[in-house]
Amino acid sequence: MHVVVPKPLHTFGQHASGMVANLAEIVAVGEALERALALLQAGDVVAIPTETVYGLAGDATNGVAVARIFEAKGRPRFNPLIAHVADRAMADRIAGFDPLSARLAEAFWPGPLTLVLPHRADSGIHPLVTAGLDTIALRMPRGFGGELIARLGRPLAAPSANSSGRISGTTAQAVAADLGGRIKLVVDGGATPVGLESTIVKVEHGELRLLRPGGIGAEEIEAVAGAKLLRGAAGIEAPGMLASHYAPGAAMRLNVQQIVRGEALLAFGRSRAEGWQDAAAIRNLSEAGDLREAASNLFAAMQALDRSGATTIAVEPIPFEGLGEAINDRLARAAAPRDKTA
Ligand code: TXA
Ligand code: MG
Repeated sequence: MHVVVPKPLHTFGQHASGMVANLAEIVAVGEALERALALLQAGDVVAIPTETVYGLAGDATNGVAVARIFEAKGRPRFNPLIAHVADRAMADRIAGFDPLSARLAEAFWPGPLTLVLPHRADSGIHPLVTAGLDTIALRMPRGFGGELIARLGRPLAAPSANSSGRISGTTAQAVAADLGGRIKLVVDGGATPVGLESTIVKVEHGELRLLRPGGIGAEEIEAVAGAKLLRGAAGIEAPGMLASHYAPGAAMRLNVQQIVRGEALLAFGRSRAEGWQDAAAIRNLSEAGDLREAASNLFAAMQALDRSGATTIAVEPIPFEGLGEAINDRLARAAAPRDKTA
């Protein structure tokens, strides 16, 4: 299917100078439901907290709403979005579940797991959401998101709430600073507990493939599946995996044993890389060496070091087990050469 993203629908918030005014209202989660609902029903977008990262949500059945998501993010048109559902019944109206996917949904939903499934032709999902693929990525979020979707009665398309190629927002303030000139409402649920995006898996010929490491460690999924996850992308299936998807402004240097004077230091655990005293700024992802804590701090720490003005962020080694796989994946993307398509 050929999918074209429409020209910008509106340009509010854009000064003649090109500066973006911060127009978004930040409303606490307890007071935001009716306001968010009204905007979504009108085909507008809203930034909402989920347990992973903030999402930029729009009605997945409304093409104008989905186009507004792409517009606000400046996202490449070929990048499909995750559709978020309130319950299994809603998921079943959108996609077909094989037994293994059903078992994973049972075990991990609501939660930070996204399943890529065969898409039903009569799902009502707008084709911009899937970018023309015959599969669809589905996730059932916890908390406010789930409540909002249940009230709306329709799935929400919601990529991470950040400009394309930038770090995913994990606080309402970070989202407002990035997208505030282009959206009207940021629902403030505080810092997101998981801190990085959902794990994406897909059943292929009875086997399970990891398309994106994320908020649930591969080992946990393997324990439920009773089998190893296949690694390595099959084709271009997760184009959100564009190399420089998570790029801060500063260059990144990974697995450093020694700091160069003037670099900012992204630290992990108790022992410091040599020369740490010469770092321009330091953030420790987890003093205790806890990978879950590190994941939840990752994007905010990268943003803080980026703001320090250092031209390079040096990163201490992060172990690969559990959530360390997803952390290393995001760091590798942030360190990748920048390209214009991200
Ligand atoms: O935690 C999350 O997953 C967050 C929160 C907001 O729910 N959402 C998120 O969405 O990270 P986004 O759009 O930033 O990432 C969606 C990922 C992309 O890598 C995209 O390529 C992949 O899902 N994806 C979407 N549909 C797919 C499909 N049919 N097959 C394979 N990958 C797909
Ligand atoms: Mg994203």
